[in-house]
Amino acid sequence: MSSPVEQQKKEEGKKNTFTVIDNRTGKSFEIPITNETVKSIDFRQFKEQQSDFGTMIYDPGYYNTAVCKSQITYIDGDRGILEYRGYPIEELAEKSSFLEVGYLLIYGDLPNREQLNVWQTKIMNHTFIHENLISMMKGFRYDAHPMGMLISTMSAMSTFYPDANPSLAGVDIYKNKQLMNKQIFRILGKLPTIAACAYRHRIGRPYNDPLNTFTYTENFLYMLDRLSETNYKPHPTLTRALDKLFIIHADHELNCSTATMRQISSTLVDPYTAVAGAASALYGPLHGGATEAVLRMLEAIGTVENIPNFLSLVKQKKQRLMGFGHRVYKSYDPRAKILKKVTQEIFDLLGMNPLMKIAVELERLALSDSYFIDRQLYPNVDFYSGIIYKSMGFPTDMFPVLFSIPRAAGWLAHWVEGLSDPELRIFRPRQVYLGRRGLTYAPLESRQASPQNEKLVSFSSGFDRRRDVSEVLYSFDESCAIPKTATGSKNQLSASIEQSFGEKLSL
Ligand SMILES: CC(C)(COP(=O)(O)OP(=O)(O)OC[C@H]1O[C@@H](n2cnc3c(N)ncnc32)[C@H](O)[C@@H]1OP(=O)(O)O)[C@@H](O)C(=O)NCCC(=O)NCCS
Repeated sequence: MSSPVEQQKKEEGKKNTFTVIDNRTGKSFEIPITNETVKSIDFRQFKEQQSDFGTMIYDPGYYNTAVCKSQITYIDGDRGILEYRGYPIEELAEKSSFLEVGYLLIYGDLPNREQLNVWQTKIMNHTFIHENLISMMKGFRYDAHPMGMLISTMSAMSTFYPDANPSLAGVDIYKNKQLMNKQIFRILGKLPTIAACAYRHRIGRPYNDPLNTFTYTENFLYMLDRLSETNYKPHPTLTRALDKLFIIHADHELNCSTATMRQISSTLVDPYTAVAGAASALYGPLHGGATEAVLRMLEAIGTVENIPNFLSLVKQKKQRLMGFGHRVYKSYDPRAKILKKVTQEIFDLLGMNPLMKIAVELERLALSDSYFIDRQLYPNVDFYSGIIYKSMGFPTDMFPVLFSIPRAAGWLAHWVEGLSDPELRIFRPRQVYLGRRGLTYAPLESRQASPQNEKLVSFSSGFDRRRDVSEVLYSFDESCAIPKTATGSKNQLSASIEQSFGEKLSL
């Protein structure tokens, strides 16, 4: 064993570099390591011929690529640790409020009493939305998915604030921090109002105006639930539970939607458009839409007895166990632990949800099965949040909306940090091109039919089929007409019909 002095000398002489030998040329390169990271551009110098482009890093899905430096959220996926600006998530969920956490994420420190008062007042003074936005929302179909309404309305908001649009007001406008703050107040203030309008639209009730004397989550529940009462007040246990859910969903470093926020913002577009884009990424079933997918999965399983059969389908890769697995956590998601406690508080108030029995047994069986153990698949935040939302009486399609409201605080924290980063560049990844090159353009008449044409066959609805069997006069050469009916296999067709009509998946 080396003595402490020898150890120190070793440390002093240590070089923070990799020496890489290119076996094609025999050349050796020294690549600096900073923060356990190498710069991918340093690999460009690896070339076989001087005229070559140079070596790129291939990383589909960004498994091991850092695209920015950040001081917002820390995750240790192996140990199940999550911290916002250095504070453990467990402590924030227990002691803090969502707005306090939003301030922490965006501005870097917990606010003092006075800062918190100003922050709350500013946000609650920005909860009203323009009447034209309300008219626009009323134009959606009666059964429009509330997430589609939220995304569209957020995107439309950019047209209401030309002063906030760099395309109109100048690329550098967000060097002005006051202008930046204004958009933060507007987005965080108006999102719950938009979400509540989308919900009320879905259930066919008039939209409620915000009540700014309430807290953030209290006002949201009020806008969702008030009917004709003049003194309606949501139950404090529900308000607190929702606030905790908002805290644990507020940020999660570079998840898909936050990476999307950074990517879109790198073009310097306005924050409303960027938030709409981030929310679109969150909508997908592999991200924020997973909560919704978990609920649909539990409902489809139906009984505890069906679980082994379902897990066997998962292991055959015919089904996916939604709410399990995570790109970063390779142990129990700390947020899922917090949620298990909140679930109990909600059950004590509103009664037990029968899906909980299926969820607990599903978790137990999966965690004792080598398929899930070997792949380090544990429950993630979506596994229990769906049951909580359902027990609180939210329809399943509201789940991604309930995720988007708090996550906007994280998106905005990354927007602020990204725009002030001296290393910010427009996001523009590279590709490995494997396609054809240098073809000669053939005139239309001389081209052979290509098997690619099969791709033009699409699903036929009942309406299409009814029209297809009727006489249609083509105004162009019929030999070029697209085939009249879908030629997909019977299974494919029935699967898509099943999807369109929302029937249960069969196990
Ligand atoms: C979150 C998720 C997209 C991460 O994906 P990822 O990091 O790309 O992980 P991979 O898809 O490479 O998964 C690694 C292995 O575990 C399997 N796996 C991952 N999640 C799984 C799941 N939920 N159910 C069944 N198998 C799963 C994969 O099939 C793969 O198996 P293989 O090695 O035999 O091919 C993925 O775990 C998933 O789809 N989970 C369900 C959706 C969900 O809950 N999303 C919310 C995340 S907060």
